[in-house]
Amino acid sequence: MDENRSSEPRPFWLAGRPATGDAEEAVTSPHDGRVVGVHSVPTDEQVEQAVAAADAVRARAAALPLHVRAEALAHVSRRLGERAEEIARLITAENGKPVFWARGEVARAVSTFRFAAEETRRFGGEVQRLDTEPAAEGRLAYISRVPYGPVLGITPFNFPLNLVAHKVAPAIAVGAPIVVKPAPATPLTALVLGEILAETALPEGMFSVLPVPNDRAGALVDDPRLPVVSFTGSGPVGFSIMDRVPRKHVTLELGGNAAAVVLADADIDRAAARIALFSNYQAGQSCIAVQRVIVEDAVADEFTGKLLDAVGALVTGDPGDDKTQVGPLVSQAAAERVEGWINEAVAAGARLLTGGTRDGAAIAPTVLTGVPADAKVCREEVFGPVMVVQRVASVDEAFAAVNDSRYGLQAGVFTRSLDIAFRANRELEVGGLIIGDVPSYRADQMPYGGVKESGVGREGLRSAMEDLTHEKVMVLTGLTL
Ligand code: SIN
Repeated sequence: MDENRSSEPRPFWLAGRPATGDAEEAVTSPHDGRVVGVHSVPTDEQVEQAVAAADAVRARAAALPLHVRAEALAHVSRRLGERAEEIARLITAENGKPVFWARGEVARAVSTFRFAAEETRRFGGEVQRLDTEPAAEGRLAYISRVPYGPVLGITPFNFPLNLVAHKVAPAIAVGAPIVVKPAPATPLTALVLGEILAETALPEGMFSVLPVPNDRAGALVDDPRLPVVSFTGSGPVGFSIMDRVPRKHVTLELGGNAAAVVLADADIDRAAARIALFSNYQAGQSCIAVQRVIVEDAVADEFTGKLLDAVGALVTGDPGDDKTQVGPLVSQAAAERVEGWINEAVAAGARLLTGGTRDGAAIAPTVLTGVPADAKVCREEVFGPVMVVQRVASVDEAFAAVNDSRYGLQAGVFTRSLDIAFRANRELEVGGLIIGDVPSYRADQMPYGGVKESGVGREGLRSAMEDLTHEKVMVLTGLTL
């Protein structure tokens, strides 16, 4: 038991107040299986109270002055910064993410809330003169954005803080109450975020954090008092939500099998170093971790040699150690699945260039080549420290290979050519394109989301604020403009 384990279970957050239910759940470390914390689990009645409170406050929330929202968001940003090391250690404890990456995640969440505070102050609506036509002389439109209503945010385990932040911060910014259902593997960080939210002047009911098991999420999804569902997680679950509530406003941030393209004119040293690191960061458990590496023949031997050197130099091991770059997956079951996919590819003729072994929940950084196109490690989202290197003869072939996927979240293209960059922008079927770097690059203020089966809608503060609201127009008549 470590410092995160207190004698009392952590309370959850019901309409902005700490509460305890009639059951407890322990959270264990994927690294060594120790219990890192225990939290209380809400009863059905408490879930009902949280939803009723969100519904009751919806009009007041929408009318909340911008400075109140902005100050609350700025407070959360500041407090996350003050508690950064404690929270990073908690992320590492419950998720297994090396503390190096956990610190980065906290720093990103500090920015996510700060960006939301800044965007809130710019969220004033627009004025449009209508006297562009004779028939509309003397008329002026005021266009504001109005929240659809309370949001259900369902969040994943791989970024237990920042992907919760990407649900909570834009909701508060637009004046929408939010009910968060965190991932069962990593609820403790979301509960600490609840603690910080509770320090603000937000009205009662504006937020709840309900660590209920997945099999109780359906009732929340169905509840008509939560007209928006914002989900980050797997494709099958995401699309089942959309099918279940077709009349709700559903935003899905789903998976991918992100490609990094290395063209003959690229900086090969940089490409090898970046791809090695970002195929394996968070043990590959990011929707934009590099999974498919598509390299032009002319530089393939040189690149592959450098890539293997860089992968071999990655520091694996205890996620609590400052130097560790690659830790365990979220669970042994997750690692066993990834191991199974590697073995399946090898049995189908793939060549294992390095890795492929499992130790408990950890998979050694793995590079495969010659993988049959229908192997799961190519076609599905691996969500593990595994990359597949594929050689191509030309830019045409490279871009066709990127698009040969049912996913389309982000892609990276290592090239020095501006012409090829713009061509990639025209041709690649993705929501985000990163030139000169890995597809794993994300700035929290930029639009983020996918096409094809990678999702619907966009995160990124401004984009998410638009997504959670609709335009409302008020026309003023009889004016002298
Ligand atoms: C994700 O896994 O979709 C999130 C990636 C990120 O925020 O960096």
